[in-house]
Amino acid sequence: MEGFNLPEKMSRPELFDFEGISMVPYFTDNWENVQKFQARPDDILIATYPKAGTTWVSYILDLLYFGNMEPERQTSVPIYLRVPFLEMTIPELPTGVELADKLPTTPRLIKTHLPVQLVPKSFWEQNCRVVYVARNAKDNVVSYYHFERMNIIQPEPGDWNTYLQTFMSGKNVFGPWYDHVCGFWEKKQTYSNIHYMLFEDMVEDTGREVERLCSFLGLSTSAEERERITQGAHFDAMKQNKMTNYSTLPIMDLKISPFMRKGKVGDWKNHFTVAQNEQFDEHYKRRMKNTTLRLRTEI
Ligand code: A3P
Repeated sequence: MEGFNLPEKMSRPELFDFEGISMVPYFTDNWENVQKFQARPDDILIATYPKAGTTWVSYILDLLYFGNMEPERQTSVPIYLRVPFLEMTIPELPTGVELADKLPTTPRLIKTHLPVQLVPKSFWEQNCRVVYVARNAKDNVVSYYHFERMNIIQPEPGDWNTYLQTFMSGKNVFGPWYDHVCGFWEKKQTYSNIHYMLFEDMVEDTGREVERLCSFLGLSTSAEERERITQGAHFDAMKQNKMTNYSTLPIMDLKISPFMRKGKVGDWKNHFTVAQNEQFDEHYKRRMKNTTLRLRTEI
């Protein structure tokens, strides 16, 4: 299977309130099956707020576990089929749950953007490993803005300033960034099988982060193996790779904005005005005053 063909008429969805979170039907229409999803103890859940580096970490995990499988897999199975997006449901396409249920590989790598309180219970009951990735809010909102511009299953973002206000209010798909990153951070206090990664650390020293990831997963890999994986998952390599750059998924118009856009820390400086930055900082301080989580907006 090389990718998906989409139903002919797809239109941008409207946001609605779902369990207190702004959502679109593409992530809620299969809710009953998502909630009763049966996780297995060796499943690995990759949980993120959208645009935090999900695909990067997914691909690293895929290479760690399955990088030595037949070469054909590397050139013919896109990342969204190797690592199903659990809550995704697009008419006429297999749902994320169906794809996860049919995964031929062990462990199953499963992606979700659900906030911690909506993650299907069985992942916790089975004590599954959870790899969470957070990215600083300023780069995250910039990346999300460009993603919404090019992706037809997301609502229309409006102009940059409008989108920034929406993000601060938390009325965007998958709800407030603030609660998402803090929710998993708090969960880590009581559930030890979460590895909490930061996008900025990954950019700063990918090799070090791959090593930490391996140690969490209990994988013994050689330095050469880790180096090969770090290089294979480098931004430039993933941008060229049809299996990771989303060029096979027609819901995205890569001419508007590429999926592999910049991959940097600090691109927010090219978007925020001085006034927007002051307003954002003020709001951020209030919103994040009760957490010990610290994220870097530059490295
Ligand atoms: P930008 O839009 O800032 O470029 P997700 O996979 O969660 O949707 O996140 C996508 C973001 O991660 C995009 O950010 C993308 O460029 C960045 N990204 C993906 N792979 C990367 C890599 N190998 N190195 C650095 N950034 C990467």
